[in-house]
Amino acid sequence: MKLVVAYIRHEAFEPIRTELLDLGFPSLSITEVKGSGRQRGITEQYRGSSVTNYLRPKIKIECVVADGDVSTIVDTVLKHGRTGSIGDGKVFVIPVEQAYRIRTGEAGEETLQAHPGATATV
Ligand SMILES: Nc1ncnc2c1ncn2[C@@H]1O[C@H](COP(=O)(O)OP(=O)(O)OP(=O)(O)O)[C@@H](O)[C@H]1O
Ligand SMILES: [Mg+2]
Repeated sequence: MKLVVAYIRHEAFEPIRTELLDLGFPSLSITEVKGSGRQRGITEQYRGSSVTNYLRPKIKIECVVADGDVSTIVDTVLKHGRTGSIGDGKVFVIPVEQAYRIRTGEAGEETLQAHPGATATV
């Protein structure tokens, strides 16, 4: 299992989420974060003064998948996340030791499988 972590533009999230759902990967977490890349800061003019913002708002996606599914997730993020301009973001792939579904006590990759065609009842 691997954790795919992607830092993306806000506008890229909905197309990524929709395609992952269509591909059978409905399970993910997101966080609104602030970060900086290699450009460090962006300087803008505000009421006649130069203001440098060192942090830019991004969406962080976390998605744990089986090893064989990593390329599908990464390809989807790259496809919808790329504008070609600086600040498109980054993707990291991190090993995951174990996973548990709390409701059933199941462990391992079976906890990552989506219900076929299910919508949520909470
Ligand atoms: N090494 C990193 N570790 C953790 N987060 C990172 C890292 N690099 C980038 N990020 C996150 O991704 C966001 C977007 O990064 P960004 O796309 O600017 O990367 P970059 O390396 O500067 O590439 P580019 O030249 O295309 O801008 C950052 O604001 C930060 O939240
Ligand atoms: Mg950058």
